Amino acid sequence: MNPSIASDDLGSLLKWYIDQGLDETIGEEAVDRFTPPSYPVASASTPSLPRAQIPPPPRVPSSAAPAIRSPVPIESPQLVEDAREQARRCSSIAELEAAVRAFEGCALKRTAKTTVFADGVAGAPVMIVGEAPGADEDRLGKPFVGVSGQLMDRMFDAVGMSRGRDLYITNILFWRPPGNRTPTLAEQAICMAFTRRHIDLARPKALLLAGGTAAKSVLDTTEGIMRLRGKWTSFTLDDGTVIPTLPTFHPAYLLRTPASKRQSWSDLLALDKKLRDLSLR
Ligand code: URA
Repeated sequence: MNPSIASDDLGSLLKWYIDQGLDETIGEEAVDRFTPPSYPVASASTPSLPRAQIPPPPRVPSSAAPAIRSPVPIESPQLVEDAREQARRCSSIAELEAAVRAFEGCALKRTAKTTVFADGVAGAPVMIVGEAPGADEDRLGKPFVGVSGQLMDRMFDAVGMSRGRDLYITNILFWRPPGNRTPTLAEQAICMAFTRRHIDLARPKALLLAGGTAAKSVLDTTEGIMRLRGKWTSFTLDDGTVIPTLPTFHPAYLLRTPASKRQSWSDLLALDKKLRDLSLR
């Protein structure tokens, strides 16, 4: 530490970081930036990127500062294509889970502790798609197990549904974005290739999209959650089957805005009615 910086200054700098929302470190393990990059662009089972599409490593003069990891080109449409191709080859949820766990094309995997794939009953009538794992999910490897997930469980419990019987739960992203930031469009596009196939293979009778990011990504729309919430729409599987789909508020939003719980409650009642109309309850 620079001894010329007064500890008062450091204290106010830290406070400023916290006020700006920077209240946690990206990872608990230090990154050795002196080691040359070695991570792969694609897994052994993945057709690798044509050489011409892999950017050359940055040129660093030998006297200059140590090399910084050159980022995997997540903006590359090739990565989305790779993900789609791998997802397409999976004919069961177990195969898809293995493909997601082996996938190296999403940079979020490098900062996350675990891959968070799904929880609940594969093949359950209701599939819930959220945004991305948070710190608790990253630690435990299951979606919606933190405080917002516990609120979601209690709300479903109140309509007589549980993740042990009626629900299958996943996210559009399988890896926690650092500091819980909103995933970039490129990260969403790469993971959605798998999530789309996930919905195809799970074949739910109804789909619940928790929060604006999930709703926009799954429905491929720019419409915000305030407009989408509570209105039935549809998601079409690859074989043409139409799945009734309901966007709703994210439970983390409900924790911050409890007055909105009333609308979410009416969404759950609408979901319950839809299942009854389909003679599924
Ligand atoms: N928020 C989400 O969108 N998904 C989780 O799994 C946890 C929190």
